[in-house]
Amino acid sequence: MKKKVILDVDTGVDDALAILLAIRSGELDILGITTVNGNVSLDQATQNTCKILKLLGMEHEIPVVRGANKPLMRAAHFEHRVHGSDGLGGALQDMQVDVLPAHGHAADFLVDQVRQHDGDVTLIMTAPLTNLALAVMKHPDLVHQVKEVIVMGGVVQGFGNVTPTAEYNMYVDPEAAKIVFQAGFPALTLVGLDVTRKALLTDEHIQALGDSPLSRYIKESTADYMQRYYERNGVRACALHDPLAVGVALNKQLVTTHPYFVDVETKSELCDGQTVCDFQNRLLKEANVHVCTDVSADEFLQLFIHALRA
Ligand code: BDR
Ligand code: CA
Repeated sequence: MKKKVILDVDTGVDDALAILLAIRSGELDILGITTVNGNVSLDQATQNTCKILKLLGMEHEIPVVRGANKPLMRAAHFEHRVHGSDGLGGALQDMQVDVLPAHGHAADFLVDQVRQHDGDVTLIMTAPLTNLALAVMKHPDLVHQVKEVIVMGGVVQGFGNVTPTAEYNMYVDPEAAKIVFQAGFPALTLVGLDVTRKALLTDEHIQALGDSPLSRYIKESTADYMQRYYERNGVRACALHDPLAVGVALNKQLVTTHPYFVDVETKSELCDGQTVCDFQNRLLKEANVHVCTDVSADEFLQLFIHALRA
């Protein structure tokens, strides 16, 4: 039986790769893809998601459902410098989208699907957590019906990627992240920059994908991203942040996790969006998050290439 999942995305370059991995792995039953404001506007993220599905000929198979067009309490903060003005690094610009998003709101879709498949649905969140926070605020009992939540977000032992302390998905909607972390999900795994920064797609990996429309898309969409990553980090690569969250859904053994109490800062001039992890249990609070502390990056890259190669 395939694992039932819903992907929640703000399709940017790496969300797109996460969707491609989820589909091409052949191991996931993707009930739907929900979209949210984040790297790009909600409209753009939705359009990008539809394009990625069309690239694989899956636009009639997987519903796309639009969600929040802004964070709960803050203004949008796009990430065009990383993902390009369109979110896909300029790739697929000429592709026309002909299948419209499904009716309804992402938060309601999440609730409906989780209830329909009680205890069977894994949520893979690779964007600001606005949609899931809205769902949980409306239906707090939802937390007991979800199988697992896998969140790409945060950083517990390193530095941020949008401010010195905050990772992007947490920074954009820290109030939503706080609600999700405090909601009481029995199984919430945090795939943060601590591990995703080790999962680096390089030119060699892209070459190993062979020649196909898919590999050409991956090469084109990641080119600018790699250049910017090089300028900041001295390595030419595309960090597979969001694909690693899918990797964790496919194979938990790829990561080492530890249960900790984690919360998100929302009231600080310098540190909003920081994920604070209580490694020594100084706050005497029960663990609420399985925090990824290490990853078998090579194994993950092999899985990624195996799934996406021609
Ligand atoms: C996260 O932020 C976004 O820019 C990426 O798509 C990813 O979800 C990495 O910090
Ligand atoms: Ca994302």
